[in-house]
Amino acid sequence: MTDPQRSPRSVAVVGATGAVGEILLEVLAERRFPVSRLRALASERSAGATVRFRGEAVAVEAVRPQLFDGIDLVFFAATGSLSKELAPEAQRRGAVVIDKSSTWRMDPGVPLVVPEVNPDAAVNHRGILACPNCTTIGFVMALEPLRRAAGLRSVVVTTLQAASGAGREGTDELSGQVKALAHGRELEAKVFPGPLAGNVLPLCESFREDGYSTEEMKLLLETRKILGLPDLAVSMTCLRVPVAVGHSATLLVETERPLSPAAARAALAGFPGLRVLDDPLNNVFPTPRDVAGRDEVLVGRIRRDLGSDRLWLWEVSDNLRKGAATNAVQTAELLLARGLA
Ligand SMILES: NC(=O)c1ccc[n+]([C@@H]2O[C@H](COP(=O)([O-])OP(=O)(O)OC[C@H]3O[C@@H](n4cnc5c(N)ncnc54)[C@H](OP(=O)(O)O)[C@@H]3O)[C@@H](O)[C@H]2O)c1
Repeated sequence: MTDPQRSPRSVAVVGATGAVGEILLEVLAERRFPVSRLRALASERSAGATVRFRGEAVAVEAVRPQLFDGIDLVFFAATGSLSKELAPEAQRRGAVVIDKSSTWRMDPGVPLVVPEVNPDAAVNHRGILACPNCTTIGFVMALEPLRRAAGLRSVVVTTLQAASGAGREGTDELSGQVKALAHGRELEAKVFPGPLAGNVLPLCESFREDGYSTEEMKLLLETRKILGLPDLAVSMTCLRVPVAVGHSATLLVETERPLSPAAARAALAGFPGLRVLDDPLNNVFPTPRDVAGRDEVLVGRIRRDLGSDRLWLWEVSDNLRKGAATNAVQTAELLLARGLA
């Protein structure tokens, strides 16, 4: 008898030529997601180019609604405006959409899913599911085990975000600037709001009138939605650092009930998709270089705050894998496992 969970699905990837799209194709192949047919879609600029999937070249087509006919599952990894315009088109044509952009995340009718944290949210989908921001995913992965162990009252978080969080153009701008810096040339900044090489920028995306960045607001609102804690106090600052891949964050967490560093370490170590690397006396802690190319979220520097009962920790995750592509593919696996797609 055929296993319905493994019965192959026709899949389209919108944004197949981008930073996330490329990794998405790799992750689908690595995890042996049952794909019967793959449509690689992007803009007119890429029509006729090819991408690799399971060792073969797949022709890239310029996306248009008719190309969703006969497709079961569409991953959107392009722009927010494209998701807004075309996700409902794919949905109307019978496909289930998993969207990586911010467009649908806060829509009350759209589940915002991190499969290890809130898999049940997927049950009520109406054809579109959203993946959280790359920074939010690592953050909630670190918070959820602490919440289950002792409840959550508040968190102060500072993120240190990689250039690839701004897509291929972000990565290219940083590597161009690193070369320019080495040759004593002027640093050109178009994607980021200033030179990033040899620097740190206290801004990801753009500032709002209240002085917070749009990225910081995503972190706050998405975290509350995923954890189902609409009043959770989150105080956040998002920084851009000259790292190619891997977002880091330092967290100061106040739990409802007392939680020792040892109990926190055990709760984190027992959570799926998390790994604790924490041996300070031997300089063992996770860094973006350790996490790049891996799906696990790594946590270290777990210690009690000296001025309160709160806990400090340090978390890193690959923004292109668990922060984007892997989380999207895990969401698709969840849909298949539960007969929801
Ligand atoms: N980078 C991250 O760490 C990260 C993490 C989480 C979520 N996301 C989200 O994932 C999405 C993709 O991000 P990315 O970093 O992969 O960006 P990217 O590297 O700039 O890639 C963008 C992709 O979208 C396609 N695209 C752009 N405009 C299009 C249009 N008008 N019609 C069709 N395709 C179009 C591009 O195709 P062409 O090659 O033809 O231009 C390319 O394939 C964004 O919504 C982003 O916010 C990114």
